[in-house]
Amino acid sequence: MDRVKGKVAIITGAAGGLGKAQALLLAREGAKVVLTDILESEPKATVEEIRRAGSEAIFVRHDVTSEQDWAEVIKQTLTSFERLDVLVNNAGILISKAIADMSLEDWRRVTSVNLDGVFLGTKHAIGAMKKSGGGSIVNISSVAGLVGMAGDSSAYAASKGGVRLFTKSSALQCSTLGHDYKVRVNSVHPGFILTSMLENIIRKTAENTGCTYEESRKIREDATMIGRLGTPEDIAYAVLYLASDESSYVTGTELVVDGGYTAR
Ligand SMILES: NC(=O)c1ccc[n+]([C@@H]2O[C@H](COP(=O)([O-])OP(=O)(O)OC[C@H]3O[C@@H](n4cnc5c(N)ncnc54)[C@H](O)[C@@H]3O)[C@@H](O)[C@H]2O)c1
Repeated sequence: MDRVKGKVAIITGAAGGLGKAQALLLAREGAKVVLTDILESEPKATVEEIRRAGSEAIFVRHDVTSEQDWAEVIKQTLTSFERLDVLVNNAGILISKAIADMSLEDWRRVTSVNLDGVFLGTKHAIGAMKKSGGGSIVNISSVAGLVGMAGDSSAYAASKGGVRLFTKSSALQCSTLGHDYKVRVNSVHPGFILTSMLENIIRKTAENTGCTYEESRKIREDATMIGRLGTPEDIAYAVLYLASDESSYVTGTELVVDGGYTAR
């Protein structure tokens, strides 16, 4: 209990999947949470759930590709909670198409949400964190940002690889070797985590290869060393660690939470 007590955390893409699990866990561990998303009803319901459990939370509608929206999110966070300690750049999309079939528009949409969004969030959070005496930025990348993936996820992989090295460069800039903002920046690299995003991939692979949903799912389970898909809570605990002061000596690193998928 209380691993992030008193901290104020923004979580983007908090409508469901990994973002919702992070919001619930950080709130349970004492943080005041700002849930943001382009969707409204789901994160608003999570805000109510957090409040019923006795913690504080607000929702701000937010498109991570909009710099104006970012300014508003930071403003509303400071108005409600007077400080910012943690930003989780979690929002992300996957458009799965073969390179030969992918339009430049699709490519730009993926890189805009997954990479521009992380840049804008980092840019806007740094100022507020400096005023709070420091902070922790956690960027949700992917195993697709570490190793090449079979399947049609080139734009996604490029964006997530970009997040990985943007994270390390941000960590350097924010440290004593750079501007000494006292802001730590790390990336988390989930493997196959059962959310709507992965369910869509499993379904699409099944359609393309003629196997069943269960067979398509089993291929992913068997590709791990643990022998199962991950849960949103598996990732939320990694985020909690990086958000908390338990990781005060950790910056510029990549925390891989993939059941051993990339260890081979
Ligand atoms: N599920 C996995 O297996 C897996 C693996 C590796 C990485 N990830 C990453 O984890 C993060 C969360 O994914 P998830 O599995 O929970 O997927 P999800 O689709 O359930 O959640 C993504 C959220 O981002 C929101 N979003 C999309 N575009 C947005 C925008 N422009 N502005 C603000 N919000 C926007 C969506 O509304 C949604 O709530 C993503 O960055 C994803 O790439 C997921």
